[in-house]
Amino acid sequence: MNTIIIGLQWGDEGKGKIVDYLTEESDVVIRGQGGNNAGHTVIAKGSKYVLHLLPSGILWDSKINVIGNGVVIDLIGLVQEITRIESQGIVITPDKLLISDRAHVVLPVHKELDAAREAALGEHKIGTTKRGIGPAYADKVNRCGLRIADFLDREYTVQQITRRVAEANEVLARYDLTLFVAEQVIEEVYTAFERLRPHISNTIPVLHAAWKSGKKLLFEGAQGTLLDIDFGTYPFVTSSNTTAGGSCTGSGLPPTAIDAVIGVCKAYTTRVGSGPFPTVDEGLSEYLHGLGREFGATTGRPRGCGWLDTVLLRFACMVNGVTGLAVTNVDGLDEYEALQICTGYDIDGIVHTLPPADRKAWDRAVPIYETLPGWKSDTTGCTNFSALPAKAKAYLSRLAELCGAPIQFVGVGPDRVQTLVKITE
Ligand code: GDP
Ligand code: IMO
Ligand code: MG
Repeated sequence: MNTIIIGLQWGDEGKGKIVDYLTEESDVVIRGQGGNNAGHTVIAKGSKYVLHLLPSGILWDSKINVIGNGVVIDLIGLVQEITRIESQGIVITPDKLLISDRAHVVLPVHKELDAAREAALGEHKIGTTKRGIGPAYADKVNRCGLRIADFLDREYTVQQITRRVAEANEVLARYDLTLFVAEQVIEEVYTAFERLRPHISNTIPVLHAAWKSGKKLLFEGAQGTLLDIDFGTYPFVTSSNTTAGGSCTGSGLPPTAIDAVIGVCKAYTTRVGSGPFPTVDEGLSEYLHGLGREFGATTGRPRGCGWLDTVLLRFACMVNGVTGLAVTNVDGLDEYEALQICTGYDIDGIVHTLPPADRKAWDRAVPIYETLPGWKSDTTGCTNFSALPAKAKAYLSRLAELCGAPIQFVGVGPDRVQTLVKITE
C-alpha cells in the first residue's frame, strides 16, 4: 500500500505527526515538493522534533527517507537541520537519508531576494517564510536554476553562482540591502554540499526498485492544498504543487504507484501569512493562542484561527482524490460550547460550495454556518476512536459527510500516541 499524506487547508494540519505515526508500517518516506518553508512537528517518547527538509520518517530506525527531485534544498539549512536532529539522538546515515541529484538548490541570494520582494510589496506582501522558496522555484521554471548534480562540475557551478550573485546584487542594491560576495557564497554552499555528498544519488531507480519489490511507500506533502500554486488562493500561495500530483512529479514515481491519499486537516482552520480566510474568528484565535497553541514551527508567527471550512475541504478532497481523512487537533475544541461549520460561501447572494478563482470574490465571501453542539469534555486521554464523546463523533461524521470522504484517523494531542484509528465496519 503506497500512500500520499497531503494537507487539505493552508498548511500546518499535522502532516508530520501523521507521517511519523504511519512510518512504523512503511519502508520509505518521501518528500516531493516545497523546501524548508515547511515545519513539521513530531512529539515522540517525550521529545519534540521540528523537521523542515528532513522527511518525518527520519525518527524511526531502519526506514529510508528520500528528499526527492521536486524539493528545493537550502544546503546550508539542511546541514544545520541534520546537526540539530542528530544532537537529539537521531542517527542519520547515508543509507537512511537519500537526496535526489535532480533537486534544485536554494542559494543564500534566493532568501534575500524573497525578503526584498516582500518588503517591496509592503501591505500587499504574501507573508512568505523568507526561505527563498519563490525565487528558487522561479529560477527552476525559468531554466536558470542550479541542481545538486551541477555541483559535481565545480567550474560550471562557480560560474553560475557568480552570475546569480551579480544579478541578485543589482536588485538588492536598489533596496540598499547588504550585497553578497560571490566567493563567500561559493565557499559556504560548497562546504554544505561536501557534508551532504554521501547522501546524494539518483533516487529515481532506488524508489522504483522499492516499489517493484513491494516495499511500502509513504509520501509526505508539505504546505496545504489552498497554498498550491494552481489550486490555492493565488497569489497568496507557495510556489509548488502541494497537492497529490506533486508527490509523483517530485519523486519520479508514477500515479499508478499510488494506492491511497490521506488528507490531513485540523478540526478547525488555521492560516499563517497573508490572503483570504473567510472563517477566521478572533475569539477562537485568542483562545487557542492563550493555550500556547498555533504558533508557526518555522517562523514562530501566530497562526490565524477560524472555524472549520468545508468549502475548502470539499475542494481539497476533489483535487487530491482523498480516500481517507486524518482530522487532527480535535482536542483544541474540547472546551467549546457551540461549534460552527462553514458549509458554503454567500458571494453576492449566490451560494458557493467550492472556492472561487476570482481573487476579489474571496473578499466578498460570507461564510454560511451550521452550528453543532460542543462535547465539553477532555479528549486528550482517549486511546481509541470509540472512547470519543458522542458529540465529537457527530461533529466528525458531519465533517466527513460534507467533504465526501471517510474519517480514518483522529488526533487528540500532539504526541505520537495521541493518534486514534477509526476502524471501518
Ligand atoms: P504540519 O506542518 O502539517 O506537519 O503541522 P505542524 O507541525 O506545523 O503544526 C501542527 C501543530 O499541531 C504542531 O504543533 C503539532 O505538534 C500539533 N498537533 C498535531 N496533531 C495534534 C493533535 O491532534 N492535537 C494537538 N493538540 N496538537 C496536534
Ligand atoms: P507546512 O509544511 C503553513 C505559507 C507562508 C505564506 C505562503 C508562501 O509546515 O504545512 P513561502 O515561504 O512558501 O513562499 O510562503 O505559504 N507557508 C506555509 N504555511 N505551513 C507551511 O508548511 C507553509 N509553507 C509556506 O506562510 O503564506
Ligand atoms: Mg507546519
